[in-house]
Amino acid sequence: MRIIVLGAAAGGGLPQWNCGCVNCDAARAGRIPALTQSSVAVSANGLDWAVLNASPDIRVQLAATPALHPTGPRQMPLRSVLVTNGDIDHVAGLLTLRESQPFDLFATPTIHQVLAENPMLGALRPDLVARRTIALDQTVTLAPGLEATLFAVPGKVPLYQEGEVVETGLVGETTVGVELRANGRRALYIPGCADMPDWLSARIEGAHALFFDGTLWDNDEMIRMGLGTKTGHRMGHMPVTQTMGALAPLTIGQRVFVHMNNSNPLTDPASPQTAEAIAQGWRIARDGMEISL
Ligand code: MLT
Ligand code: MN
Ligand code: ZN
Repeated sequence: MRIIVLGAAAGGGLPQWNCGCVNCDAARAGRIPALTQSSVAVSANGLDWAVLNASPDIRVQLAATPALHPTGPRQMPLRSVLVTNGDIDHVAGLLTLRESQPFDLFATPTIHQVLAENPMLGALRPDLVARRTIALDQTVTLAPGLEATLFAVPGKVPLYQEGEVVETGLVGETTVGVELRANGRRALYIPGCADMPDWLSARIEGAHALFFDGTLWDNDEMIRMGLGTKTGHRMGHMPVTQTMGALAPLTIGQRVFVHMNNSNPLTDPASPQTAEAIAQGWRIARDGMEISL
């Protein structure tokens, strides 16, 4: 199984257009690597690919990834797109994929419902883009030899659907993780997760690779940096400091943080926090990072 990180940043990317925080400034100045928004590509055979989450940056991500380049006048190695929630950083890229290219679009019924409510996504021609519903814990084939099973993880509804009261530990079809299987290998992709209950760590145990929510280093960082008023938990993201502790006892082949917010010191390869995460056995995703299992 090959997994390529197309985009390692959370919504907004790095730099974020309206942010002058220390990391965004450093990325603009070229002192740290810029990161596009959250997505990975996966293949069992290196020829047929699935993209997990369609980032607003997908156009440049595809251009930067030779494995996903067209193989003929209107032929693509892209077989399917799967989205793990309805967040804008995970679905807005679907609009970019509207140029009459066939692929399967996988999501839970709840996420498909959100997509169906958006008339602009009608630009994905229904005769070419099959909207395929996956029930939780059902296994589907994303591309030849590549199977995926979705499972609920604690999360919340997309920002644009939030009402007065927001439940941040929803476990259902709104936020899911993906279990990928190919050639006897098992990888988990969980770019958004609000908490780590025992049943989730039991599912992670023994994976050959884990790509996990690295949005924030600590729960209060956006407030402390003057970038916002929300904690990580309020945004549906458990902080890295909590995750590293919770997963420390597990046996995992490779553990990789993805979906880093621009406030996160893990975006700076030279930060003490990056050194600490590496010391605890984690890798920090960067755009273009590839893992072969
Ligand atoms: C998130 O991961 O919390 C969302 O992508 C935020 C957003 O929609 O901007
Ligand atoms: Mn996000
Ligand atoms: Zn910033």
